[in-house]
Amino acid sequence: MFSAISHDSARKHVAGSALYVDDIPEPADLLHCYFGGSELAHAKVISMDLCAVAQYPGVIRTLTAADIPGVNEISPMHKFDEPVLADKLVQFAGQPVFAVLAESRAIARQAAQLAHIEYEALPAILDIETAMERKSYVLEPHSMQRGDPQAAIQAAPRRLQGEVFTGGQDHFYLEGQVSMAVPKEDGDILILTSSQHPSEVQHLVARSLGKPINAVTVEVRRMGGAFGGKETQAAQWAIMAAVMADLTGRPVKIRLDRDDDMRSTGKRHDFLIRYDVGFDDEGRILGIGFTHALRCGISSDLSGPIADRAMFHSDNAYYLPNVSISSYRCKTNTVSNTAFRGFGGPQGMVGIERVIDAIAQQLGKDPLDVRKANLYGVDTRNITPYKMVVKDNVLPGLIAELEASSDYRARRQEIADFNRTSPIIRKGIALTPAKFGISFTTTFLNQAAALVHVYKDGSVHLNHGGTEMGQGLMIKIAQVVADEFQIDLDRVKITATNTGKVPNTSATAASSGTDMNGMAARAAARKIKKRLLKFASKKFATPPSEIRFVDNHVQAGESEISFAELAEQAWLGRISLSATGFYRTPKIYYDPQTSSGRPFLYFAYGAAVSEVEVDCLTGESRITRVDILYDAGKSLNPAIDIGQIEGGFVQGAGWLTSEEVWWDKQGQLRTHAPSTYKIPTCGDMPEVFNVRLWDKGRNREKTIHRSKAVGEPPLMLAISVHSAISQVIAGKLGGNSLPSLNTPATPEAILNCLYSNGEEA
Ligand code: MTE
Ligand code: HPA
Ligand code: MOS
Repeated sequence: MFSAISHDSARKHVAGSALYVDDIPEPADLLHCYFGGSELAHAKVISMDLCAVAQYPGVIRTLTAADIPGVNEISPMHKFDEPVLADKLVQFAGQPVFAVLAESRAIARQAAQLAHIEYEALPAILDIETAMERKSYVLEPHSMQRGDPQAAIQAAPRRLQGEVFTGGQDHFYLEGQVSMAVPKEDGDILILTSSQHPSEVQHLVARSLGKPINAVTVEVRRMGGAFGGKETQAAQWAIMAAVMADLTGRPVKIRLDRDDDMRSTGKRHDFLIRYDVGFDDEGRILGIGFTHALRCGISSDLSGPIADRAMFHSDNAYYLPNVSISSYRCKTNTVSNTAFRGFGGPQGMVGIERVIDAIAQQLGKDPLDVRKANLYGVDTRNITPYKMVVKDNVLPGLIAELEASSDYRARRQEIADFNRTSPIIRKGIALTPAKFGISFTTTFLNQAAALVHVYKDGSVHLNHGGTEMGQGLMIKIAQVVADEFQIDLDRVKITATNTGKVPNTSATAASSGTDMNGMAARAAARKIKKRLLKFASKKFATPPSEIRFVDNHVQAGESEISFAELAEQAWLGRISLSATGFYRTPKIYYDPQTSSGRPFLYFAYGAAVSEVEVDCLTGESRITRVDILYDAGKSLNPAIDIGQIEGGFVQGAGWLTSEEVWWDKQGQLRTHAPSTYKIPTCGDMPEVFNVRLWDKGRNREKTIHRSKAVGEPPLMLAISVHSAISQVIAGKLGGNSLPSLNTPATPEAILNCLYSNGEEA
């Protein structure tokens, strides 16, 4: 426990021996499925002629909405607003309208091109502004208020209004969406898929087949990255494969091509954020109003909780005494937006960090001083806009430590000196904190379960509802179980997530995988341990309090036997060596009517100092140095946690600087391949990258060994990069207003800001 052990699959990842769905040996009679997508962004389907598709050599059959035996619907929040296959109406370019089954994947893909679909085009809403004008929403607007922001803004000595647009983001997981459906006896189906939410895939597949849930088993060994993109998005493809398998009695696989994956699966929500803020001469915020308008695409998917989380994070780390936040969940004729690392939090935080930068610029202050002036207090000034008391604020100490260790003040001075004599290459530096609420805001999702077996040779089989997407969940949970029995880690077998072993699970999401499954697995292990204790106590005539599990052995007074021997003895003694464990997150509740409660068990905290260099002739930017201090509580595995921080930060930097999701005026996604969509490469890593876990970290809540979540929050530390770039531009342009630099701050956006005052060149 607490040691830096490498990922259980690290060597297999590198050697290529880690099995993903497409690597599993294919059954002999496997068929391949592909889909055909809508050509238009919004249209009535007048007719669909699939004859040429069906007659193509090697094609077995086609599938349309009418062929789905059960319910043609995939909405995860039961809003009934998104079909598996569109019927009569298409709502975005790329929306699946039919599927085809063939002898090979190549044949299926070729045949899918041969459909003749007649459309009657309808007007399409392609951006947030138009959706706002037309009041086109997927869900009702929602707002939250505390105090009297209007009065406070009016009475404040100073006032600023502005807006910032944050762009979308494609998940760009290395492994795209993929599923294999294998028919079993009596019409049962086994699905091997790449999903963060095997139970939801199971439930939706069963419903689409018109079968009970127990007819479907879903198994996920690992994903080649997910980042939220497989929280809901795997079901549609799994359903196509399952229906085809059910209709033909043969196994069926579907694996999306990269371009189709980008066109036809959801992305991060882009947001238009407006603010109106009143503050004093120190830069302290007295009153603030935020309006969030977010692109949700054609359906609600997870947009409700995502928009909520954006509202919950529009304070980030700052006390907002008088505040209102309104949120408009816009319906557009683009692919339905979905979960992406941070789940709305990053967008909410960009809003407030932008406000702080604007205030600092207005007052001519170091933005860090304005940040500090607004930070939540430890005992006072500690109530969030949703009326939760912040009891675990570690930021004042953490920021002070990072400010010193990164040499922030001296470097800021050096940078100012450098910039005075460097007209083209300019540098910038910024420190931004992150405070991120840990728990699903949908309270019932905060439950987890696990299944542990001890075999008679003392080896352990571990299973739980969490899924592995590269984040290191499996190794952490195995560490927890090995620690409980005090046996070597390699005695614990990590196994594929399977709905037949642990039922009705939640998605592995909201950074809560270790918190929840760790507790559930420990509960299961403790049940078995208790039985073993009782057994050993009898066997050695020693009170349980004198029995110790130490180093693969069990000591009972003067006697000692190996854990394996004890397991065998217990089995002979007819003791059950298998148990389930269950966990529900305590203390949380939330009332959406009054927007108040305690939606989060605790907060995760961190801060980053980023230094950038901007070429003011080309608009190109580079991250030259990053220093991060992150509170992982008592880290279960510092190697894994640091990896998560590095990866999350770089993914956030990509979102904010280079990754641009762009649709043309017809609603066709034009950035659907790595040729036009730029994720960070190894060359974009910060040149100096100092990541440290905070050594004072300890969760004040009773989480698993007092650790803290780490999966999503580091992404938000990359806001420091955007802030540093903004400051470079502000410095170059002079004056006391912040340039309107949206995200991503691509070279083009930076040049626009520098040379046309933000207007389109
Ligand atoms: N890390 C890797 N390598 N791959 C991923 O897909 N997803 C992130 C984060 N880290 C992801 C990742 C997201 S969006 C979440 S919510 C968490 O991992 C989920 O896992 P956890 O709850 O076990 O931290
Ligand atoms: N985070 C991630 N996924 C979710 C959440 C959340 O808060 N709520 C529902 N699904
Ligand atoms: Mo993560 S966006 O909660 O899957």
